[in-house]
Amino acid sequence: MNILDLEFVKGFIRMCNDGFNQGWHERNGGNLTYRIKEEDLKDVRDLLNTDGEWLEIGTEVPSLANEHFLVTGSGKYFRNVILDPESNIAIILIDETGTKYQIQWGLKDGGKPTSELPSHLMNHAVKKEVSGGKHRVIYHAHTTNTIALTFVLPLKDEIFTRELWEMATECPVVFPSGIGVVPWMVPGGKDIAVATSNLMKEYDVAIWAHHGMFVSGEDFDLAFGLMHTVEKAAEILVKVLSITPNKLQTIQADEFRQLAKDFNVTLPEKFLYK
Ligand code: 13P
Ligand code: ZN
Repeated sequence: MNILDLEFVKGFIRMCNDGFNQGWHERNGGNLTYRIKEEDLKDVRDLLNTDGEWLEIGTEVPSLANEHFLVTGSGKYFRNVILDPESNIAIILIDETGTKYQIQWGLKDGGKPTSELPSHLMNHAVKKEVSGGKHRVIYHAHTTNTIALTFVLPLKDEIFTRELWEMATECPVVFPSGIGVVPWMVPGGKDIAVATSNLMKEYDVAIWAHHGMFVSGEDFDLAFGLMHTVEKAAEILVKVLSITPNKLQTIQADEFRQLAKDFNVTLPEKFLYK
């Protein structure tokens, strides 16, 4: 059995390529991590290198101790993942304290996991807990239209959620809990990881002002689909705002309430403020 034949590895590579094809991954922009099911490694255990150095994560994730993750490499380009996965992605193991990791496969020409590893792992820790272990994918992309909106909309969860919900009837069904917004912060460290993971307790989507988006999902389809849906809504909003500052008509608060009933979702009242 080759690592590249594992279904989750194939799904991960496909998602990197899909994201690149959407235009969300200029240069090395964006990163993807997957919390591996231990049983999925059973046929490839002897291909994992357990002698490597233990490196600092840069934050603490004790609830992820002894878990394996598939991650994109720092400075690696999403467009190259499909051509040469073994040079651009890696399997890492978290140590028993949740403060260090070891590279066990991949990054064969050297390198490290994504610089956003603290944010990814803190988001995984939160999502593992609040989803009862179901969420396994954390995805960060430089989504053009969503980024554009962070220059013109107030950086408030209520405003981003409501404006994007209004752009497509399916939006509140796809992301009923809403969207959190992180103000501009220096990326790549613990502070932005703490801010993002706090939002992930409540939301599956967090927007980083003037930078991009993070989403969490149970699997690759759901995480990619969520990113795609939010970014599509943002594209529609950019078009609307480019035509006129005032919408002539839109979906009303009571219409969202009707939708919530029929589609069996709970829409927090804080987003139905007008
Ligand atoms: P990495 O290449 O380290 O993953 O960084 C890309 C990025 O998008 C940082 O936010
Ligand atoms: Zn980024």
